[in-house]
Amino acid sequence: MKKIMMGLLTFGIFTFNAQAYDQTDRIKDMQSMESAMSQIQKGILYNNKDMVLQAVVKLKKAASTIEVAPNSELDYSTFFAKRQSSNIKKYADGIKKNMESGHKHGAASNYTRVLDECISCHNKIRKWN
Ligand code: HEC
Repeated sequence: MKKIMMGLLTFGIFTFNAQAYDQTDRIKDMQSMESAMSQIQKGILYNNKDMVLQAVVKLKKAASTIEVAPNSELDYSTFFAKRQSSNIKKYADGIKKNMESGHKHGAASNYTRVLDECISCHNKIRKWN
């Protein structure tokens, strides 16, 4: 009984959190990803590995919330958002791996892949057309 109660409680908190994620949170995370992307570019150009690695952490953290998409309010599906989120994280790891081994071109091409993911979702936002 105690276990069930705990389970219900955890589920309740999870559901509450998912619902509590609103447009204000989304904009905050979007801005955080934008600043991480700028920082990544800067770090590549200034040859500052730490700057890039810190920004990758920040990018991945904010990218994890992309999939919390209440599709009733949005122009894209949760399924699509989930895939985008995981692609962004995958390419962010690519930036990290390349930068760690001193491959700036490799880091830059993964950076472009992330940017392409951002743009493909933004292209779906009807009010932005
Ligand atoms: C799955 C969809 C999706 C993906 C992927 C996505 N965005 Fe967004 N983005 C949105 C939505 C939705 C908005 C809000 C549009 C609105 O309502 O004005 C937004 C808005 C923004 C804004 C404007 C914020 C503001 O202050 O108005 C920035 C900057 C931004 N995104 C950056 C990024 C970056 C950088 C990435 C990639 C790393 C990214 N986005 C990936 C859906 C996405």
